[in-house]
Amino acid sequence: MCGIVAYIGRKPARELLIEGLRRLEYRGYDSAGIAVLDGGLTVVRAVGRVSALSDRLDKQTDFDGTLGIAHTRWATHGTVTEANAHPHRDDKAGICLVHNGIIENYTTLKRLLEDRGHRFVTETDTEVLAMLIGELYEGDLEAAVQGALREVTGAYAIAVICEREPDTLVVARKGSPLMVGVGKDEYIVASDPSAIVAHTTRAFPLEDYNVVRLRRDGIRTSTIDNTPVTPKMMQLELDLEQAELGQFQHFMQKEIFEQPAALRNTIRGRITPHGDSIVLGGLTRYSKELVRARRMILTAQGTALHAAMIGEYLLEDLARIPTEVEYASEFRYRNPIIEDGTVVIAVSQSGETADTLAALAEAKDRGALALGVVNAVGSTMSRETDAGVYLRVGPEIGVASTKAFTGQVMVLALLSLYLARRRHMSRERCEWMLAELASVPDKMERVLEQADHVREVTLKYVERENWLFLGRGYNYPTALEGALKLKEISYIHAEGMPAAEMKHGPIALIDDGMPAVFIATKGSQYDKVINNIEEVRSRGGHVIAVATEGDTEIAQHARDVLYIPDIAEPLSPILAVVPLQLMAYEAAVARGHDVDRPRNLAKSVTVE
Ligand code: AGP
Ligand code: GLU
Repeated sequence: MCGIVAYIGRKPARELLIEGLRRLEYRGYDSAGIAVLDGGLTVVRAVGRVSALSDRLDKQTDFDGTLGIAHTRWATHGTVTEANAHPHRDDKAGICLVHNGIIENYTTLKRLLEDRGHRFVTETDTEVLAMLIGELYEGDLEAAVQGALREVTGAYAIAVICEREPDTLVVARKGSPLMVGVGKDEYIVASDPSAIVAHTTRAFPLEDYNVVRLRRDGIRTSTIDNTPVTPKMMQLELDLEQAELGQFQHFMQKEIFEQPAALRNTIRGRITPHGDSIVLGGLTRYSKELVRARRMILTAQGTALHAAMIGEYLLEDLARIPTEVEYASEFRYRNPIIEDGTVVIAVSQSGETADTLAALAEAKDRGALALGVVNAVGSTMSRETDAGVYLRVGPEIGVASTKAFTGQVMVLALLSLYLARRRHMSRERCEWMLAELASVPDKMERVLEQADHVREVTLKYVERENWLFLGRGYNYPTALEGALKLKEISYIHAEGMPAAEMKHGPIALIDDGMPAVFIATKGSQYDKVINNIEEVRSRGGHVIAVATEGDTEIAQHARDVLYIPDIAEPLSPILAVVPLQLMAYEAAVARGHDVDRPRNLAKSVTVE
């Protein structure tokens, strides 16, 4: 989720901050900005890469202060524009800050501040925090920051400076990472050690609700309630490449393991506190049209299409709305029929996939209401749809999509329940489903604890050149996704299909020792899946089953079992896919492939 770098010391801040932003570029972002206090406050921002900001800075003469803050933005609230890029300022006290995270109650605070005469100039939640600190400022920046943070809910890492206090930098965190590097009469603060370790190896991480006031002659660490805190110093011993990945070997591995945290972001603020309804702010304007929709068309490519296929089951099963899924590349050319009451939903991580954009345009030209379920805020798709819901899983860097897939399914589940509750679903059933949905991140952490077991199982079959992936109902698309994951990074040929379809030809492929991965979780078609497993076993296939914890029968049918916690059947793909993601990852590593940059593939297919 982007990056913060801040500096107070005796060196010119400018180059040091830009170099720090470059170290954080791997985190993905859409715009960047910097502010330096040198007598006056100078702010420079740019959409696009850090190099665009650096080019703009080259034209700036008076930019030599030794106190500054800088930011790479990955937008969550407000489109990707220079005006929305950080740093953001208040309109009274000379406050200037950068922020990673989401201020959840920003609309309430914004209204209060507007009532007190403040005028906002951006669409972001961050500007509200700057304005609130300015409103509370009475000559003590640390106290104003503490007071403001007591008022906000959400996630933040912030660095704050003030024109009236040229010798003070205040930083704070809750939920988004921030670390302070301790040099000689200087401090460098950053979202992760990769931007610090070039300057000092002595550092301490901020804990949630920590506030640190930094001056050239020393620091003070406290909480937002002004309770003093003793920072836990550490020695940074890492090479920069490793710093970018933390303890992980590849971005794909990192993104598989950060799915619980990513999905908590997806859900955050979207389920009402008493858990019986869903808040999807981006759809409010079209709520009536959506509730009365006569048909839904989901369109996407690749992994996003597999998520859309699960969305079809969810929308029909829960919201009872006729729904179909279309490959965008096919939909755009087949002269589709769009009648009144049709809603088209484009599903995409990047929001830049050419075929999906073209399908969306085709649907809009024919009068459909066009929605987006997209990860990249400010992407073309998010601008070209009438409305939409962001995944909020953070930048996805590995080419093989993992957390975006589970984020897409999670959003489609939220959308299905949003519509179901407004159409016919009872409060009780909706509450139960939302409780199940809210349990997904914790349950996914339990699945991830099995990573070593998944590796052991995978290595037993990694030499096999042909695999089958089979599932039924909600987990038929999960089987397709498992096959795609394995293909695209291990280059092993794999085919996914409905488990029943195997008898109509593919069963001829089964030979001795062929791996067949079944999603055999407890559900409405469990017994049928067991029958299909036996059909494979009786022909020499080796069955690997993804099953539900506590299922003692499955071990009689499958050679290897990967267990997931019990969960409502409509949500089971979000957990069932994780062992398949891990299998694909371990197979690719075992085969020595470049996991994050697999041959022939691009992260975003922006051409036909
Ligand atoms: C998924 O692992 C692949 N990288 C690919 O299939 C991807 O899902 C597809 O290209 C769609 O991309 P999008 O979600 O950015 O539109
Ligand atoms: N929510 C803030 C924004 O959308 C910060 C996003 C980030 O973490 O970069 O500008």
